[in-house]
Amino acid sequence: MTIEISIRNVCMEFPGADGVKHVLDNISYDVQEHHFVSIVGPSGVGKTTLLRLLTGLMPPTSGEIHVSGQRISGPPKGLAVVLQDYTRSLMPWLTVEKNIALTLRKQKLGRANMRERIESSLEEVGLAGTGKSYPWQLSGGMQQRASIARALATRPDILVMDEPFASVDAQTRFDLEDLVLKVRDDFGITTVMVTHDIDEAVYLSDEIVVLHGKPAQVRDVVTVDIPFPRSQMATRNNPHFAELRTHVYAMVRGLE
Ligand SMILES: Nc1ncnc2c1ncn2[C@@H]1O[C@H](COP(=O)(O)OP(=O)(O)O)[C@@H](O)[C@H]1O
Ligand SMILES: [Mg+2]
Repeated sequence: MTIEISIRNVCMEFPGADGVKHVLDNISYDVQEHHFVSIVGPSGVGKTTLLRLLTGLMPPTSGEIHVSGQRISGPPKGLAVVLQDYTRSLMPWLTVEKNIALTLRKQKLGRANMRERIESSLEEVGLAGTGKSYPWQLSGGMQQRASIARALATRPDILVMDEPFASVDAQTRFDLEDLVLKVRDDFGITTVMVTHDIDEAVYLSDEIVVLHGKPAQVRDVVTVDIPFPRSQMATRNNPHFAELRTHVYAMVRGLE
């Protein structure tokens, strides 16, 4: 198996009014190519901080992150990001297709290619024909689909998502979960997702990284040995699903 992302001895400290805040302590973890990995842990533990380090928007205080074998010193090529708050991620004054086009402008595609990318990405997420709509004309779930389409349009190798489904209703959440599993299969994308929803982490993941403590360390890496394809009904009713969920829950709570 090929390692796509390698996190090596990463520490993160933030300067603060009352001294240095040590958030991440010696985090090491490898993400295998095509894997779906969830990062879970209590609120405020440092999940978003770790994700921001992966996106290269800030450097770790110490340690290294390698993506596709190269040490990163800025946003890595081939990595796309989807954030929680869709109301702030799409530009409200641009149509959905113009939002996607804006993200693609660095790729210098011709007009026809650009159109094809936009249309195929919208189709992939079940939004064919909505390119001319403005984000505010779409439901929350559709806006989050549009954010995923925008990420996919860049044809990323890696998709990084921070609590992507936290602000949608439960039924939409199930649909979006199945959508990201389909996307992983259709494009062979490596996915790293932060979530506070332990059931969601078990349902989606090949592996779950549990962060715990102040500063946070990797408390456990849980392999979810439930076969794919998964389904909301069958997988969640699998007795092993319940076992894994109980174990991860205990780890997050610091009970085991
Ligand atoms: N830019 C920053 N400056 C100072 N402290 C920060 C900064 N970003 C995050 N933190 C602190 O790091 C800790 C972890 O935050 P975060 O990564 O957002 O946690 P999580 O996503 O797990 O809820 C929190 O105590 C937060 O206040
Ligand atoms: Mg967070």
